[in-house]
Amino acid sequence: MRISVFGLGYVGSVSAACLASLGHDVVGVDTSEGKTSLLASGRAPVVEPGLDDLIAAHVASGRLTATTHAEDAIARTDLSLVCVGTPSQQNGSLDLSGVARVCSEIGAAMRPKNTPHVVVIRSTVLPGSMRDVVQPALEAASKMTAGNGFGLANNPEFLRESTAVTDFHAPPKTVIGALDQATAATVASLYRGIDAPLILTSMEVAEMVKYVDNAWHALKVAFGNEIGNICQGAAIDSHEVMEIFCRDTKLNISSAYLKPGFAFGGSCLPKDLRALVHRARALDLDVPVLGAILPSNRIQMERAVERVVSIGRRRVGVLGLSFKAGTDDLRESPLVEMIERLLGKGFDVRVFDRNVNVARLNGANRRHMDDTIPHLASILAEDEDEVIQHGDVIVVGNDDAGFHEAMGRLRRGQTVIDLVRLKQMVPEAVTYHGINW
Ligand SMILES: NC(=O)c1ccc[n+]([C@@H]2O[C@H](COP(=O)([O-])OP(=O)(O)OC[C@H]3O[C@@H](n4cnc5c(N)ncnc54)[C@H](O)[C@@H]3O)[C@@H](O)[C@H]2O)c1
Repeated sequence: MRISVFGLGYVGSVSAACLASLGHDVVGVDTSEGKTSLLASGRAPVVEPGLDDLIAAHVASGRLTATTHAEDAIARTDLSLVCVGTPSQQNGSLDLSGVARVCSEIGAAMRPKNTPHVVVIRSTVLPGSMRDVVQPALEAASKMTAGNGFGLANNPEFLRESTAVTDFHAPPKTVIGALDQATAATVASLYRGIDAPLILTSMEVAEMVKYVDNAWHALKVAFGNEIGNICQGAAIDSHEVMEIFCRDTKLNISSAYLKPGFAFGGSCLPKDLRALVHRARALDLDVPVLGAILPSNRIQMERAVERVVSIGRRRVGVLGLSFKAGTDDLRESPLVEMIERLLGKGFDVRVFDRNVNVARLNGANRRHMDDTIPHLASILAEDEDEVIQHGDVIVVGNDDAGFHEAMGRLRRGQTVIDLVRLKQMVPEAVTYHGINW
């Protein structure tokens, strides 16, 4: 393929050189003449292991060239990768002015072309940027329509500085969010020969995935560091602890607990987090990440309450009472908390949980119930149907298998607030709200 790469910084210069090494003809474009002339002379514009040699080899072979002229680069290529910077503004917001400018240049340069061109945004841009900034800038300058006159895709970059060349050839995944399938296929063909899962999705999802990845990586570092600080304060070897932690690929280093939904609860997580944060404070340690988890969890519980309140109907049916399906443990169940809040606001609530039977509850569960919702017995229903009969609003609180089936018995005019994602099972006639989807 004939490719132009706009922006010859860390991402662009590595992409340009690596794409040339895959057999493509590549022209690098930058507004900085210093960078284009470095590349044109066979040297890397940035420090990156292996990049100098790669650039030298492909400039020598004629497969990699550089220019400061966007028009010339667009005329000579069929696809452009945009790799310009997207820095923070003073207030933390994303500065898209570089992306907008380069899109206007590319759009204007596409105008006199009579062959289709594909524009791929590789820079990191927030969801909606493709639709609100990139596409309008390209369309205004080219006088063409995306998906008709030219192809458009978002293709986030996952390489890391210092291992960028290796990462380019072995990325964790290739994510392509294109406006149409033909463009997605063209972009995918760029990476033929690279062994990575190929994920085709919408532009918004592709844009978001990159932010989720980076937020997660940052959170992992901060989490590991706070744990390390507590370990050091308690004279424990933090590396030994985290090595053992990382060996658990079932619950720790895994997809467990990562699906959006309702608040956590139960007899362990809240109590143990509280104790750990308390210990950290006793050691005079500031642990903002660990300390923010319970407040964040509370906000998630409040979110469900607010959703119910916002519907404006008084009769509420709740499916599930314990913190997850398959247990009668009510300790720190966020559903108990949610119901207590709703009762306090005057809602008429009925609840069903097949594992919660007042007569059978004993010990800590009984005490917990007596403390939080002593009149639980009066609002407990016999089965799902009693709850469904009662409620104008039905809250699905946990993933009990019986609730899946019960969704089919909801009736027109009811509203479901789904905390567990039973979306597929809810009839179309029912008004549906997911807690965070
Ligand atoms: N650096 C990384 O490790 C990394 C990894 C993944 C994604 N990203 C994302 O990729 C994007 C680029 O990051 P970077 O670190 O390579 O940036 P960078 O600042 O190193 O390079 C950007 C380049 O774009 C050039 N440029 C600006 N406007 C231009 C225009 N109109 N025409 C041509 N060139 C122009 C600049 O002169 C500069 O050389 C950012 O959105 C960043 O968030 C970076």
